[in-house]
Amino acid sequence: MSTPNDNPVPTVRVLPETLHRAAAEVFGGAYLIGPVTDQMWERSLPMYRASLVQGIVEDDGVVGGVARSWEVELDVPGGRVPAAAVSSVGVRADRRRRGYLRALMQAQLQTTRDNGALVAVLRATEASIYSRFGYGVASTYATLKVTRRRAVLRPGAAAERRLKMITPEAAVRELPAVYERIRTARPGTVSRPSWWWAGMVDRHLHKDRPVWVLCTVDDDDQVDGFLLYTVNNRDGWDDPQQAVVEVLDLRAVDERVELALWQAAFGIDLSEHLLAHGRPLDPVLDLALVDPRAAVTTDVEDETWLRLLDVPAALSARSYGAGEPVVIGVDDQLMPDNSGRYRVSTDGVQRTDAEAELHCEVGELAAVYLGGTSFTQLAAAGRVRGSSEVLARADALFGTPRLPWSGTYY
Ligand SMILES: CC(C)(COP(=O)(O)OP(=O)(O)OC[C@H]1O[C@@H](n2cnc3c(N)ncnc32)[C@H](O)[C@@H]1OP(=O)(O)O)[C@@H](O)C(=O)NCCC(=O)NCCS
Repeated sequence: MSTPNDNPVPTVRVLPETLHRAAAEVFGGAYLIGPVTDQMWERSLPMYRASLVQGIVEDDGVVGGVARSWEVELDVPGGRVPAAAVSSVGVRADRRRRGYLRALMQAQLQTTRDNGALVAVLRATEASIYSRFGYGVASTYATLKVTRRRAVLRPGAAAERRLKMITPEAAVRELPAVYERIRTARPGTVSRPSWWWAGMVDRHLHKDRPVWVLCTVDDDDQVDGFLLYTVNNRDGWDDPQQAVVEVLDLRAVDERVELALWQAAFGIDLSEHLLAHGRPLDPVLDLALVDPRAAVTTDVEDETWLRLLDVPAALSARSYGAGEPVVIGVDDQLMPDNSGRYRVSTDGVQRTDAEAELHCEVGELAAVYLGGTSFTQLAAAGRVRGSSEVLARADALFGTPRLPWSGTYY
């Protein structure tokens, strides 16, 4: 078989540790980060050690393209599934458009499924790349811009909490366990490996951006929420219009504790605005503010790109709303054994020979899997076929009370 440019289909292999730095070099070049210094490599090592690194090694030993993944747990409606988180996908600038990415994706999908993942999840540099590989946008996020002096919460909205400030080093040590304990079952949330925490904090400190960490503490002295923030344009302190507090991470055991953290953020003096990237599209903050325009949502973008690796197992792993069953016909060109007809009901999912009432590609099924998009919306865009009655039935089964959101960038 040949690629469109008549280059032979490249062989993808799992790279041994001895080639991980070369893989990181390909990644550094592809993402325009630059050469990997010893210091950068030291920081990246735990991440590579914990990952499945796949790559294309040419006859002369040159690594031409790479893709990295690691095991996570992904919250889905009513459950949690083993998933592969995908990142560091890159091809050398002199090896592009000859099928390297396609070969990498095909190998990665197969290997991660063989290793037990039911779905793969990633964040895309460009939104035009991944649908051809069966990925769909399963969650979205946005930026919140808050005008601090207008931001007042309705009385009683926030939980009463004591605040405790800890160092970034203590955050890296202590917050992974807190995150796992308070992690709510919101579809789209993923587990965070310890190296992720170190990398997140380090990324800012390394760029000489300070990181502060405020925690909420409950009556039993347990940390039940945390806020990590930095400041952009520190030189602007003379003029608070210029200094912007940037929320890097804000998680809490429930919405009222989350609001206690927002209240703490509103109390950070010497800046006019707060900026929080990557927040959910249904922020509780909007409804809790006396002046809802104090927080403006901007820059809505795709967050989780999701690929169903094992369609029957992934469909069976989530719960469904009340309503009549529906038979969905699924087409998966890259992983054909996923293709077929599935009867989805409140009680579960089975393969069936019954006629499909609704037809979609595997990427469209991925888009509705966490409840972030409806079949009706996809049909309006011509991406799913079915009558409006069937679409409404499918929406009742797949819909979720809150929008999916991850809030973990990788
Ligand atoms: C994106 C990237 C990995 C593509 O690698 P590549 O080896 O040139 O891709 P391929 O030749 O295998 O192309 C596979 C398909 O994807 C398409 N494609 C490749 N790069 C694309 C891009 N940037 N935007 C849209 N489509 C793209 C190709 O047209 C081809 O489509 P087809 O199969 O329908 O004909 C490479 O350009 C790169 O390293 N970019 C910088 C890093 C990056 O953005 N990585 C993605 C991280 S999420």
